[in-house]
Amino acid sequence: MIDPHLWWYVTRASAIIAWALMTGSVLWGILLSTRVLRRIDSPAWLQDLHRYLGGAALVMVGLHLVSLMLDPWLKFTAAEALVPFATDFKPLPVALGILAFYLLVAVQGSSLLMQRLPRRFWKFLHRASYLTVLLVSLHAGFTGTDVGTWWYRAVAITLIGLSTLAVIVRMLAGARFGGSRAEHPQQKRSLIVVSVTTVADGVRGIRLELPNRRRLPAWQPGAHLTLHLPNGLQRQYSLCGDPAERHHYDIAVLHTRESAGGSAWIHQNLLPGMTIEVSGPQNHFAREPAPEYLFVAGGIGITPIKAMIESLPAHQVWRLIYAGRSRSTMAFADDLAARYPGPVRVHAADENDAVLHLATIVAEGSPEAEVYCCGPESLMTAVAALVPAKRMHLERFVAVRRAAPAAEPVLVSCRKSRREVLVPAGQSILTALEQNGLPVLGSCRTGVCGTCELRVVAGAPLHLDSVMDDADKDRLRIIYPCVSRASTPILVLDV
Ligand code: FES
Repeated sequence: MIDPHLWWYVTRASAIIAWALMTGSVLWGILLSTRVLRRIDSPAWLQDLHRYLGGAALVMVGLHLVSLMLDPWLKFTAAEALVPFATDFKPLPVALGILAFYLLVAVQGSSLLMQRLPRRFWKFLHRASYLTVLLVSLHAGFTGTDVGTWWYRAVAITLIGLSTLAVIVRMLAGARFGGSRAEHPQQKRSLIVVSVTTVADGVRGIRLELPNRRRLPAWQPGAHLTLHLPNGLQRQYSLCGDPAERHHYDIAVLHTRESAGGSAWIHQNLLPGMTIEVSGPQNHFAREPAPEYLFVAGGIGITPIKAMIESLPAHQVWRLIYAGRSRSTMAFADDLAARYPGPVRVHAADENDAVLHLATIVAEGSPEAEVYCCGPESLMTAVAALVPAKRMHLERFVAVRRAAPAAEPVLVSCRKSRREVLVPAGQSILTALEQNGLPVLGSCRTGVCGTCELRVVAGAPLHLDSVMDDADKDRLRIIYPCVSRASTPILVLDV
């Protein structure tokens, strides 16, 4: 026989579990957002746990509402359970609980739609989770029938204490890690050239700092800086130091033979003590959490890969295949081989036994290994042919020529500025937007640097850039308008 108090027990239990899950989700989210946990690494389960806690809290709140209506003594109607002040039973505390429920729905819903919502709006909604926990605490403190018991007080003190601790951690860590306010990726700052060293034949290692060694914006492995050179050129260089070091940026610049004036200027003119304009860091080659990594670097393509290796936790399984013409031209080769003799394999083409069997190397690893490759196009094409696209991540320094149908005119509807721009077939979307006075930025204009990134609100982009996988761009709903077009007659962009 079913206990007649069943729904009464369910109501009380689900309320306390929901409160605990919400508190846990907020605390975990704060530890993630302040990088207290991310400093360990950023495996997917850390993010997933935050989401699951929030989702489970919502399920428990739903169960709480249903049990309130099913309980034969309480007999809440749907209106009383869902509409503030519709009940005579402690109307204000109940209304606070109902409001918390709607806020929780909004927070969880916005998390599911995170990639489709404007970032600021999502953040604004997400911060409502603090208010949700506060409302739930007040609701629980004034309506719970167990309020007078010692165990309920113990639970309440623990949960309120944890919430308070979370806010304190948020404030302290926010100050320590430079806060979470994102700068525009193209915001320029003047950095001082602290040192210029030769790290390999034709490669200069450059260290940059803010005046007075102030803390620099945080970055993740795979990120690059844009150097705004005094000769008017802009050049992108991957950060190759340790992301945990916040007082300087390290880059390495190869003097390319076909330099159009970027690397040549740097090699001939850049000296310690000079000041240079820099924007970024920006990242289109972020390392995703994975059980195992295979890194393949060719020549100066080692720079983003080195930063990834520097940031790996000690237990991570990884291998690096580093190929180049000769060791003397391969930046950081000896250092990496000396520090990581097991996972690092250096292939210098001028050494007797240096035959690079890519197929064998790729086959040696786990079939779940994520593969990150940066270097000459021939190397990246060869590796990409051996690895399923979903595990392959490429970073290009030069644009690839991509086959495309003849360009068609496209009507670009600009959501923020409420303007419409007709882009003729012979003009890039970026140029058309610039000519109409819209706030877009470009740098390489060949679809490599990622500077011109815009969010797609509606319509189907035709990706012609070389920044990242097309599937990733579609998932993130972004377009690089310096080269890409649309496969629909109208494209709505967030500009
Ligand atoms: S300006 Fe470099 S990708 Fe568009």
